[in-house]
Amino acid sequence: MDLTEHFRFQARACADMGSPMYAELLHRCADDVSSGGVVGDVLAGFERLSGTTSALALRLLGSVHRLVLERRADELAMYYPSVGGAWELDGGWEAFARLLRGRPEDVREWLDRPPQTNEVGRSAALYGGLLHLPALGAGELPVRLVEIGASAGLNLRADRFGYLDGAGRRFGSDDPGLVLADAWRGRSLEPWPGLAVAERLGSDVAPVDASTTEGRLVLTAYVWPDQRVRLERLRAALRVAAGLAVEIRRQDAVSFLQELRLREGTTTVLWHSVMWQYLTPEDRIRAATRIEALGAEATPSHRFVHLRAEPVLDLPDDVRFLVRLRSWPGGAERVIGETVGHGVPTTWL
Ligand SMILES: C[S@@+](CC[C@H](N)C(=O)[O-])C[C@H]1O[C@@H](n2cnc3c(N)ncnc32)[C@H](O)[C@@H]1O
Repeated sequence: MDLTEHFRFQARACADMGSPMYAELLHRCADDVSSGGVVGDVLAGFERLSGTTSALALRLLGSVHRLVLERRADELAMYYPSVGGAWELDGGWEAFARLLRGRPEDVREWLDRPPQTNEVGRSAALYGGLLHLPALGAGELPVRLVEIGASAGLNLRADRFGYLDGAGRRFGSDDPGLVLADAWRGRSLEPWPGLAVAERLGSDVAPVDASTTEGRLVLTAYVWPDQRVRLERLRAALRVAAGLAVEIRRQDAVSFLQELRLREGTTTVLWHSVMWQYLTPEDRIRAATRIEALGAEATPSHRFVHLRAEPVLDLPDDVRFLVRLRSWPGGAERVIGETVGHGVPTTWL
């Protein structure tokens, strides 16, 4: 895909995913690239990253957003809702292009890094999935929450958030710093008052440390600036995270799973969201094989659960995010829900 097509593709994706600001800005970037303007100049040398997975357009916008958040983007801030501005295409585009002309090196600094998000809305799918365990006979033991591709591990605090279902019923923590409104639709869930989380552990090849200013900046910069609800959720989750430390190992999913052991007297819940697609085909097989092996070791006194909220990869034209659950002993797979890219709402089937 050439650079212009890449920007147009990403513009359509942002429009579909609820960011009219980025959709407009990216179309302007595409026009600019095709007329030999400043966007192409700044991205010179990075064109190899214009595939959909490398997401060069989102790298550029994330880098600019971080300059806005750091108050280093001059008048562009007036157009960014994430810092109190109001988006308007002509003025916003002019300020954006001026920033690229004035500070190309600052903008280029972040082009090497893949966009890194930790989508707190996906806790709706993960925590709701967890609430299915008591009905499957796995509600007696304390739970170890284990996540691969955990990013900053914000969703490992899912039980500390609150959830409102479509009927206005409240679930999760009694004293949450974050409430996910309209989290659930479809079949009603039952609360799990006895839920005890004995351990929280994550892994990621590129973990983000949410306890640092840099880590919080990274997570915020890749949220689209006109998506107020996502930004508010993230900020609230960062406050919750500050009060509950979680270990996130810098480790790829396969080697992490190889080292993972079940623990007597607990249910080990391995969960993950929107990370499986980043594994190589070989690593997907290795990870799946290790998950089967862990399942085979499970007994009623050390259980194993695999819970995932992932897009179904073999339907590229119709991306559906399914919530799937397996619980061992037994291990039959159940499709328990369907979610959306950012997790809210999740519909229980
Ligand atoms: C789209 S993000 C999703 C993060 C988080 N699961 C969420 O839903 O917000 C994908 C994550 O997978 C991580 N990742 C990619 N390849 C990985 C691998 N081989 N092993 C572990 N994590 C990986 C990335 O670093 C990134 O944090």
